[in-house]
Amino acid sequence: MKKLLLSVILISTMLVSRADEGMWLPMLLGKQVYENMVKRGLKLTKEQLYSINKASLKDAIIIFGRGCTGEIVSDQGLIFTNHHCGYDAIAKASSVDHNYLRDGFYAFNKDQELQTDLTVQFLVRIDDVTAEVEAGLKGLSWADRTKKMQEVYKSITDKVADKENGVSGRIYSMFKDNQYIMYVYKTYKDIRLVGTPPESVGKFGGDTDNWEWPRHTGDFSVFRVYAAKDGKPTEFNKANVPLKPKHFLPVSIKGIKDGDYAMIYGYPGGTNRYETSYGIKLKNEIENPSLVGLRDMRLKYMHEQMIKDPAVKLKLASDYAGIANYWKFFDGETKQLIKFNTYGQKQQFENEFTTWAKGKPDYENIFTEYEKNYAAWTPYAKHRQYLREGILGSPLSAFAASMLSLETVLTKAGATAEEIKKAVAAVDEARTGFLKSEDMPSDKNILAAVAKSFYTDIDKSQHPEKIFDKIGAFGDLNDEATYKKWAQDVFARTMIFDDAKWKAFSDAPTAMVLQDDPAYDFAISFVKNYNAKYMPLFTAFNNKNNELGHAYLKGIMERNPAAAAKMYPDANFSMRVSYGNVKSYKPKDAIFCDYVTTAKGIMEKYVPGDYEFDLPAKEVELLKKKDFGPYMDKNRNDLVVAFITTNDITGGNSGSPVIDGNGQLIGLAFDGNYEALSHKIAFDKDLNRTICVDVRYVLWCIDKLGGAKNLIDEIKPVTK
Ligand code: ARG
Repeated sequence: MKKLLLSVILISTMLVSRADEGMWLPMLLGKQVYENMVKRGLKLTKEQLYSINKASLKDAIIIFGRGCTGEIVSDQGLIFTNHHCGYDAIAKASSVDHNYLRDGFYAFNKDQELQTDLTVQFLVRIDDVTAEVEAGLKGLSWADRTKKMQEVYKSITDKVADKENGVSGRIYSMFKDNQYIMYVYKTYKDIRLVGTPPESVGKFGGDTDNWEWPRHTGDFSVFRVYAAKDGKPTEFNKANVPLKPKHFLPVSIKGIKDGDYAMIYGYPGGTNRYETSYGIKLKNEIENPSLVGLRDMRLKYMHEQMIKDPAVKLKLASDYAGIANYWKFFDGETKQLIKFNTYGQKQQFENEFTTWAKGKPDYENIFTEYEKNYAAWTPYAKHRQYLREGILGSPLSAFAASMLSLETVLTKAGATAEEIKKAVAAVDEARTGFLKSEDMPSDKNILAAVAKSFYTDIDKSQHPEKIFDKIGAFGDLNDEATYKKWAQDVFARTMIFDDAKWKAFSDAPTAMVLQDDPAYDFAISFVKNYNAKYMPLFTAFNNKNNELGHAYLKGIMERNPAAAAKMYPDANFSMRVSYGNVKSYKPKDAIFCDYVTTAKGIMEKYVPGDYEFDLPAKEVELLKKKDFGPYMDKNRNDLVVAFITTNDITGGNSGSPVIDGNGQLIGLAFDGNYEALSHKIAFDKDLNRTICVDVRYVLWCIDKLGGAKNLIDEIKPVTK
């Protein structure tokens, strides 16, 4: 009997184990998907999901920093986000003596909280401004539209801007310029670090486990938003007070089970679900492999130095993590696109579209035009990647290239002394920042390697003039040693590392001295060559693609108006909501993946002293004792660490709240799974999963591992 019951459950859960595509606009939830949400387990009203008059879930969700999501979890402005979202701020707050990145940190009272340079943004409301934007662009050609766009946007956002109250508008193009929507935000600037687990917990599994399930990472960190006494946003000031939010998410430690409702509010950064077969081909054959190869090289040289010295590790850690994250992503993306034959599927869809479009002048030639456009740009696509990810992947080279603005002023006829002074001051300040973050040993190797790669891999007809002759003075250009000698010379002679030379230059700046600088000369040769010959081609390619994309999407919607009413726009870092369920899956034949991971699995992965799989001694001790407190999962008799859901998210959603049917926080989304890494282009209903850290593990880390009972008291976890 028991067995039968089990198999019935198994079949019924398998029937609903498909993932849920859709990044829905919050103000359209009621119209587009509310009924389905309720069917799946939502218990809230439409008004509770999104309202501009009353407090609703959206008021607890923030843009965290420049590219993440966070949520408010107490009535005193306490913020949860991912560890990898707080990473840069944590590294910046750390020193070799107070190494919060390595050892973790908790403020046991508000006075101990640490100032950061972060900002957070609350969403005030959302307006459709399509008519206004279109009125501003009326009658213009596509190229002129593109040129005028920012100006038109500004004329609209200026009307809502209110500096004193931190209010500003941002316009997002939706459905490839078929609709324009303005989000109005309130920005707060006094954000303090409240707590973080040690990196061995917050980044447990490192890049080996990144983008993969099963996962055992405590990917969370804790901040607080402060405001002036009257609640207004303001710069950091000791006298500021914790913000009293309009809404915060209650934190539930009741636990989850397979099939439970789960929704995610947040800021997905970008998808291109209507990418064409041409775009996929270019990506798979040129763009992704170039990026992956060049990043691989840079990461190797950085890692070499980071493992030698904790000071270098702190300096490079945040950049390294960012580069590594999308190195693995783009590698996986192409692998999955090939596995799913996304190229073939898109071709089929495009053929059907073209058949429908026959005789419709607005649409019938879209794909022949795409073909021409891609054919024109493809010969230069590799060059562009090798500039961005190669030449400018050397921090020295990137900084040197940034001085182009100074050269422009120095060579401008009639530039005033005031203008020159300003331009010099700007690069001088940038140089200070650059020197602080610069690690010369790794950068020297990177510079040599990227120069050689460009020489070897990019068609000679596209090389900048003269620069390789100059490198050639150091030996054979096919020889690695030549580039090493040359790089050595650049580092020794550039004024960028030489305070006396730099001072002499900035006291009496001339274009000639700048142009003679070996680091500047190198970087700028590539930049100028690209700007003069290839950037115009890229701009034309882009504009044409956008114009075609606009028509293509318009056609898709016209072809099926009923389906169009239920469409969601591509992600573009505007707030979206995804709904689905907690759900196990089968990543490949004969392999079943459970929907949760537990502390048992942490201990199985633990490798003492390892760069990625080490643990704090205290965590090992507590886990061995099974000291799980109220955070234990009663069904498993273990501490649940992470879980997966069927939600549709992408980068930018990091730190997003995973919310149950009652509006309570059950976890933080922090990753996507490897088997569906093609999700930006095509969502796979069987394999796509969102990876979340269970909020019970978050609280366990804060309470048992970190001893920050003060935060638990503030959060007041919901137990029933
Ligand atoms: N893949 C995660 C995301 O994009 C970031 C994880 C950071 N960890 C790392 N090992 N690089 O949201």
